[in-house]
Amino acid sequence: MDIQDAIKWTDDRVFAKTGQHLSSLQRTILEGTLENKTYQQVAKDYHCSKDHTKRVASELWQLLSDVLGEDIKKSNLKSILKRIEFNSISNFGSDATQIFGNINICSEITHYPTVKKHRSRNPPKKHHDLTQVPRYYSLYPRTQDLDTLKQWILEEKSPLITLTGLSGIGKTALATQLLEQIQDHFDRIIWRSHRQFPTLNTLQTHLIEFFAQDQDPPPQTLLEALQLHRSLIILDDLQDTLTPNTLVGTYRPEYAQYSQLLQAIARFPHQSCLLLLSWEYPPDLATLESENRHCYSLQLQGLGKTAKNLLASKGLADRPHWLDLIHRYNGHPTWLNIIAAHIQDLFNGSVAQFLAYPTLFLGDLLPLLHRQYQRLSSTEQAVMLKLAHPEDATETPHQATEKLSDSEYLQAINSLRKRNLIEKKPHQTASPWHLHPVIQQYIKEQSST
Ligand SMILES: Nc1ncnc2c1ncn2[C@@H]1O[C@H](COP(=O)(O)OP(=O)(O)O)[C@@H](O)[C@H]1O
Ligand SMILES: [Mg+2]
Repeated sequence: MDIQDAIKWTDDRVFAKTGQHLSSLQRTILEGTLENKTYQQVAKDYHCSKDHTKRVASELWQLLSDVLGEDIKKSNLKSILKRIEFNSISNFGSDATQIFGNINICSEITHYPTVKKHRSRNPPKKHHDLTQVPRYYSLYPRTQDLDTLKQWILEEKSPLITLTGLSGIGKTALATQLLEQIQDHFDRIIWRSHRQFPTLNTLQTHLIEFFAQDQDPPPQTLLEALQLHRSLIILDDLQDTLTPNTLVGTYRPEYAQYSQLLQAIARFPHQSCLLLLSWEYPPDLATLESENRHCYSLQLQGLGKTAKNLLASKGLADRPHWLDLIHRYNGHPTWLNIIAAHIQDLFNGSVAQFLAYPTLFLGDLLPLLHRQYQRLSSTEQAVMLKLAHPEDATETPHQATEKLSDSEYLQAINSLRKRNLIEKKPHQTASPWHLHPVIQQYIKEQSST
């Protein structure tokens, strides 16, 4: 919809109510106002005096107030027209309007002239705020994951991507590698961790301020900002917005509006991408992914064989045993870094001597594992305990689990999957789920203390 369409729409309403069309000066005033012109400029366009223009405009605002049932002035005409348009055309609920303010967010109106003007007058000047991107040294490539993410972001123009995985698996590190490779494709980039934003409003204000740089007039809402420029927002540690000690799937009260933010970002037209990093799979994502809107999530796994580089950098010995070590610790870079330090310290770097102890050693992994375990609900903890002791398995293993109903049991399993804490066995067995040996060992040690 362009300005002429907006004028026609208004004229139609005036005609329907009064039986008269707008005069040509009234149309010029409307047009000038929608183009942010002063009365002086409108008067010049129409070759009449400024006073006359002001008089006609004042009558026009009164007329439109009567016709549209709103107190209309020069200063609010544009926003009111947009909102009325939005309410009458949009299929979306009012929640999203609250998130993005009173702007048009349906596809017909994406090309509203304000947006066009921003783009044509100001060829995009890049603003990349990378001040909070953590620094890593010697990261090994995760080529396949990087290719997948690049495909989604650059080729498919996905609006919303979530990278999930256990704490320390390498989500933030991967995002920094990705950023290095794709940053030239974006006019605006901002990286923030949720830890710095007490509420969604604070975050939004902060983002809008950032996006408003060099924009005259500045975008009023987050969506307007995302429409103006191809932007990439990376929000790290999303799990901090989710409620602990309940099944995965609810935001903490102060972050409840995130649900609407994610839905709006996924459903409304813009040219930007929100990349979320999280221990846990956020609520709403499953629905959005199923709607075929190019919203995706990637569950990050260990480094695999690449982790040999990491062991080499730690100066470990007994290379033939390295794959075994990597396998035992799931290729998890943080776990391997910590265990490599133990191997240096206790065995002078001999992996063979370390592996000669058959019980999985957790050492300084404990506090790390504990932080994730503490987030579980009591049902999830009961299910973990059951899965940690498969030797007790009966034909239907869950029946032995703390008197849980089938539904409670499966909900807990589903939630643990979203926390990346249980894995699916590749082959059909009595119970299709299992714990990674490190997690299993942790749970066993927990239950025996
Ligand atoms: N690709 C990689 N190559 C080498 N080390 C890695 C890699 N990814 C992660 N690491 C190591 O693992 C640690 C944790 O990674 P990080 O990305 O911060 O985890 P997460 O964000 O998933 O909690 C890093 O400090 C780094 O030492
Ligand atoms: Mg991280």
